[in-house]
Amino acid sequence: MSMRIDIITVLPELLKSPFEASILKRAIEKGLVEVHLHNLRDYATGNYKQVDDYQFGGGAGMVMMIEPIDKCISELKAQRDYDDVIYMTPDGNTLNQKMANELSLKENLIILCGHYKGVDQRVRDMFVTREISIGDYVLSGGELAAAIVCDAVIRLLPGVLNDETSALTDTFQDNLLAPPVFTRPAEYKGKEVPKILLSGNTPEIEKWREQQSLQRTQERRPDLLE
Ligand code: ADE
Repeated sequence: MSMRIDIITVLPELLKSPFEASILKRAIEKGLVEVHLHNLRDYATGNYKQVDDYQFGGGAGMVMMIEPIDKCISELKAQRDYDDVIYMTPDGNTLNQKMANELSLKENLIILCGHYKGVDQRVRDMFVTREISIGDYVLSGGELAAAIVCDAVIRLLPGVLNDETSALTDTFQDNLLAPPVFTRPAEYKGKEVPKILLSGNTPEIEKWREQQSLQRTQERRPDLLE
């Protein structure tokens, strides 16, 4: 089974490069995920291919119009069923590992990227099933946020990471931060790697890592332990 993600955006060029490098590129090449970018302007009508307009009631900032978005979503939905229509917005539910895990089990997703003052509320009421924020700060558009959601989700798909266990030991996977890691050389400018890691004693190493995870979480993110 492979996942399909359709991203609706006014700036497709901003979303190209994340899928043309590294792990995401490899996942696409292996056929584990398909990512399709749709330029909202292609669904706009009129000479000016207008996708945004002034807001009713006045006020600064443009609002993305419902009609082009409806056209694009309806065309996609006519071709297959979607598990979720996600809208990227700073007032959505904040992305976390649990949400990424959940989304990685889906088959077909639409991600709508907001711009300007956002989309006409009726888009959210009529089409959107999930609203996601990547944090309490405002970006100039939903594209980079969508790329982050895609990265967090795609790396969890079976077969994407080389070492199948490595996503399981990520920070946050058990509400714990990951322990510190080291590689060669064993000593650098007088700074030594913890002796236990060179001991070859796997059970003791595991115990040390668990204890380091817990300590790190207590120090840096006590909220995760509540
Ligand atoms: N669009 C603008 N800011 C955003 C955020 N923080 N998360 C998701 N989408 C956004």
